[in-house]
Amino acid sequence: MNKLAVAFIFFSILATMCMAIPNPLHASCKLDWNVGLDCTNAADKLIKQIDAWKGDDCGTSEKCLYTFESFDGKTLLAKHTTPKNHYVDDLKMVFTPSGNDCAIHGESTSELWYAVLDYGTNYCNLHNLITGSGLNKTKDFSEKTNDLKCTQYSSANCDKY
Ligand SMILES: *[C@@H]1O[C@H](CO)[C@@H](O)[C@H](O)[C@H]1NC(C)=O
Repeated sequence: MNKLAVAFIFFSILATMCMAIPNPLHASCKLDWNVGLDCTNAADKLIKQIDAWKGDDCGTSEKCLYTFESFDGKTLLAKHTTPKNHYVDDLKMVFTPSGNDCAIHGESTSELWYAVLDYGTNYCNLHNLITGSGLNKTKDFSEKTNDLKCTQYSSANCDKY
């Protein structure tokens, strides 16, 4: 085999391995919420919370530096910047009516592709919004995710991040 073929096989195996590793290699978090409120009001509360935390008055938490981007009635886009390093994470929330409730699929992804471990920042980016907006207190509230879908979910400390 020539060198090119060997290199090709090597990179093919590497690429396959990367895709097969369940832990998000690129720091990110995907989760699903159910909130006991219709989607219009749920989205409104989340947008208000993003707006309330747009300033850089962070104290010791990361409940700050959120930026609202857009909402088309179904998908909400926003960004969060970490106060310390100014890393930017992209946030996306998709709202689907579910009876009288609203099912929200949330995603947070670090723009830095090499950010592998994030101390739960991507999880807290989303979790802080749902607790800050009080939606975690609605009837039938649930939050579903795991460490495979959400970097360092089980060790996250959202009081700090
Ligand atoms: C909702 O989040 C707030 C703020 O973190 C917390 O104090 C409260 O206990 C949570 N409520 C429920 C029902 O989990």
